[in-house]
Parts: sequence; C-alpha cells; structure tokens
Amino acid sequence: MERDAALGLVKKYTEKDITYRHLISVEGVMRALARHFGEDEDRWGYAGLFHDLDYDQTADDFEKHTQLTVEWLKNEGFDDERVLNAILAHKDPQYRDDLLSHAIVNADAIAGLLVASALVRPEKAAGMKVSSVKKKLKEKSFAPGVEREEIREVKESIGLELDEFIQIGIDGLQSVASEIELT
Ligand SMILES: [Fe+2]
Repeated sequence: MERDAALGLVKKYTEKDITYRHLISVEGVMRALARHFGEDEDRWGYAGLFHDLDYDQTADDFEKHTQLTVEWLKNEGFDDERVLNAILAHKDPQYRDDLLSHAIVNADAIAGLLVASALVRPEKAAGMKVSSVKKKLKEKSFAPGVEREEIREVKESIGLELDEFIQIGIDGLQSVASEIELT
C-alpha cells in the first residue's frame, strides 16, 4: 500500500483531528524505530498509522477497540498479518510476540508525551531535547493520560536505553511535524 492510500484510510475512518494527529505522530515514531532496528519502515509505519483507527468509533465500546480496525483493514484489502497483529497487541498483551508488537506500545506512549511537550513549546517539535522530555516524564500532572510505565519499561520491552529511545522518538516526531502542525 502506498502512503497516500494509507492516509486516505485514516481520513476515511477517523472523525477527530486529534485522532488523526495522534496516528501520524505514532507513525513517525514507528518509522524512526524501524530505521534504528533495520526493520521494514513501511510495515512499522502502518502499524503506527492504523493502531487507533477505530478510536473515534469505539470510545464508548472499548471491547471493540482494535477488533473493528482489523475488520476494516481486511475489508480494504490490507492483509499484512504482522501489522494487524501489532494493532491488536497495542491493546492486548497476549498478541505481543515480536519486536514490532512490543514497539507499538512504547511508541504509542512516547508519541503522546512528545506531542504534549511540543504543544507547550513556542518552537513546537523543533529543537526538542531528551533532557526536557525526561522532565516531562517525571512531572505526573503533565499530560496525565500518558502511560509513563510504557515509556520507562522500554529496555525490557525492546532493549533500548531510555535516553536513546526518547531521541529516536524526537527524530520520528520531527519527521512528521509539518503534517500535524508542530512546526
Ligand atoms: Fe494510540
């Protein structure tokens, strides 16, 4: 699938701009992680881009969250099993069986913290520093919806040191910043 077609699906199925921007931000982080690990960048990018595709439809019916996304994607002819598995895995630990399906959990959380951090900076995503992101990580009242544990456990999850992971996350966010009004 070409990225334009993938973005078309995101526009088709999301309702809220905040969901669209979240998906792009996680895609950016996942692409940067794929580059770091020498993995398939499109595959990892699409896992990020689609992971919360049904979010606006399943907010009141969390049981269906991710299941509905997988159903839609299959109907659209998207059948990369590893991506579909990673989408299920970001919600349900039983599917976490490879690097991709673990990475999506960490990427989801760091993207949330990075976007929230960028939004309170005049320069937005430009010039973000690992040290300032770590301060935001410790500040529990900042972006309280971000699952801090899913960032801190990155070493156990995908073998990266926290600082390195945050730097990769910053690079990933910056690579998509112009698409989500963070420049
Ligand atoms: Fe997410």
